[in-house]
Amino acid sequence: MIESELARYPLADRVKRIVLDIHRREKQLSDDERLLIGSPGYTASDPNVVADAVTALALGKNVLLKGPTGSGKTKLAELLSHLFQQPMHMINCSVDLDAEALLGHKTLGSDGEGHSRIDFVPGPVEKAMKRGHFLYIDEINMARADTLPILNGVLDYRRTVHNPFTAETVRASEGFAVIAAINEGYIGTTPLNEALKNRFVVIDVPYLQGDALKALLRRQSSLQDDVLLDRFVALSRDLISKARDGQIAEEGASIRSLLDACDLAAFMSPLRAIRRAIADKLDDERERAAVLTIAETLFDS
Ligand SMILES: Nc1ncnc2c1ncn2[C@@H]1O[C@H](COP(=O)(O)OP(=O)(O)O)[C@@H](O)[C@H]1O
Ligand SMILES: [Mg+2]
Repeated sequence: MIESELARYPLADRVKRIVLDIHRREKQLSDDERLLIGSPGYTASDPNVVADAVTALALGKNVLLKGPTGSGKTKLAELLSHLFQQPMHMINCSVDLDAEALLGHKTLGSDGEGHSRIDFVPGPVEKAMKRGHFLYIDEINMARADTLPILNGVLDYRRTVHNPFTAETVRASEGFAVIAAINEGYIGTTPLNEALKNRFVVIDVPYLQGDALKALLRRQSSLQDDVLLDRFVALSRDLISKARDGQIAEEGASIRSLLDACDLAAFMSPLRAIRRAIADKLDDERERAAVLTIAETLFDS
């Protein structure tokens, strides 16, 4: 079944064989681990986006998905987890992520006979490495300076990390792979540390546009009206160009917000939907006005 999904992407035969070998490799997944396998649902503007990411992962390389917010990076990572049938452990660097959140922490447990003991609860990095699963590192450019050495070890060809909480050196098992994402938009994003960037193959994830976007909006939102869907596609095009010019903030062009607007527009006037789902999220009054002006040219009240 997944073989036919793989066939949708222009993959070299050797790469396909590697992926199928990974499927065949005996894997005893618990029910919880099975739940960590992503689902398909990413639509590619260009099938090479998926093919190149699959190829890099099959060759044991780290993949960095680079694109503006809401362009489908997380969705693409889930598709990759699905295509490889590999559970994916996720970490988000934008929250206060420290060594414990990555590697794990100690808790007080009990041995069942009334004695307390210290248990170690493994974190996502340790779990993914030891079990040979995928690790998804979201917003890796936001990682704190004190977690960078851990990430460097994870991404390094040696694939080892020292866990200070257990005094153990964790070595990655076969199958371990890293997918990271960075919100590299048009303006004002924190650049990725050079040492980290060096360790990745970079895949650009652009916003979906045109007919592909229309199909996505129809599939993922409540809005089914053909004329309105066309106008929302035009709205997206105009918003992306404004974001590119720096006239509105990045979030204004996000497909996530666009989907919200389409959902609402199935039940209220499109202009109100756009105000609620897109314009009013922006902090700057001029940016809100710019979004509404574009919307008014496309939709009549
Ligand atoms: N190319 C795409 N294929 C499928 N869904 C997409 C795509 N682009 C955006 N989306 C939709 O937009 C939402 C945001 O996508 P997400 O993967 O979370 O973006 P990112 O991680 O880049 O911020 C998703 O929930 C999905 O519904
Ligand atoms: Mg994301």
